[in-house]
Amino acid sequence: MSRPVFRTALCDLLDIEYPILLAGMGSRGKATPPALVAAVSEAGGMGVVGGSGLVPEELREAIRETRTLTDKPIGVDLILPAKVAGGAGATRSDVRSKLKSDFPEHVAFVESLMEEHGLTPVPLDNEFVVANTTGEGGETPGSNTKNMIQQQVDVIMEEDVQMFAAGLGDPSWVVPMAREKNMAVMGLVGSPRNATRQMDAGVDIVVAQGYEAGGHTGKIANFPLIPQVVDAVAPKPVVAAGGIADGRGIAAALSLGAVGAWVGTAFLVAEECNIDPVHKRQILEGESRDFEISRTYTGKTARMFKNEVVEAWTEAELDPLPMPYQKILMDDFNASARAAGRLDVHSNPAGQAAGLLHKSRPAGEICRIL
Ligand SMILES: Cc1cc2nc3c(=O)[nH]c(=O)nc-3n(C[C@H](O)[C@H](O)[C@H](O)COP(=O)(O)O)c2cc1C
Repeated sequence: MSRPVFRTALCDLLDIEYPILLAGMGSRGKATPPALVAAVSEAGGMGVVGGSGLVPEELREAIRETRTLTDKPIGVDLILPAKVAGGAGATRSDVRSKLKSDFPEHVAFVESLMEEHGLTPVPLDNEFVVANTTGEGGETPGSNTKNMIQQQVDVIMEEDVQMFAAGLGDPSWVVPMAREKNMAVMGLVGSPRNATRQMDAGVDIVVAQGYEAGGHTGKIANFPLIPQVVDAVAPKPVVAAGGIADGRGIAAALSLGAVGAWVGTAFLVAEECNIDPVHKRQILEGESRDFEISRTYTGKTARMFKNEVVEAWTEAELDPLPMPYQKILMDDFNASARAAGRLDVHSNPAGQAAGLLHKSRPAGEICRIL
């Protein structure tokens, strides 16, 4: 190779050249489109499809399209169900009714936000079953979420995929199927305690995601988190996620005991990434401090661009509701914002690494900087 590289145990485990993974990001298929996934794999890292916002057939299509662009190893990330306030099985309409009866002040507050920003209400027109908990995957239609997740997992097992990543929840039921397919399983964690749980679930690799990361994130920053997770799961390999945007971040992650990096925000500004131009510009022009943790859009803590809506919720007397209520409430706000082309008030997750990113480049070039 023409450049010096760190070859680590992760490269052998995943059969890749460089220990760099595209983070699975499930923004309605826009954050990790086939061209981006394939470009990262072609560059010698591993491209990962953020599958959680895609219905099974869309997921299959995304994998197959990626396969027309690369025959190198690829992964798929899903957000597995965890406990939700509304209980599994509730539909979008069920939750909307409950919002009206039990949380009228929150409903009125969002109506006032829509009015303030000149948005015409355009409610999301799918019946969503609530157990897809984090909302990172976008709005997922389906008649039964457990079945939905099982169907997504079936697709992954049927298609040509080399790695499965569980963004949340317990992947233990996926592990035996993955073993049969010779597929590696990764589990994301934000604390040493959850790292032990993922290890008990049988994952091959633990991803330690720090506070600085984009999207749903925990409370512990990477400097203390990574070594603690490394110690908690040793000798299992640990991959670092959060705040990594160039080779210095990779070197730091390896120094802390990680064997590679799971990189999200830095790839959101790749030329191949299909997020809205407003979202890309926020990352390219924003400083680290512009990306704050808020429960505004899903009810769970997530790092995103601090827009006027995030500020309004911060200043409001009302606390955001727990998942799934806040997500269902704000899905309708997001849908209305999209319909009006107002991505400036939409949920735009990204991490503190944004402060390091000033230029859009092809993904292959980003891989070379990492
Ligand atoms: C737009 C966006 C969407 C995300 N969606 C998911 C997801 O669907 N599943 C998941 O496991 N993590 C998701 N994440 C978290 C990433 O997988 C990853 O851990 C994070 O981006 C790493 O931090 P960084 O953004 O600082 O690189 C998302 C992050 C962002 C920025």
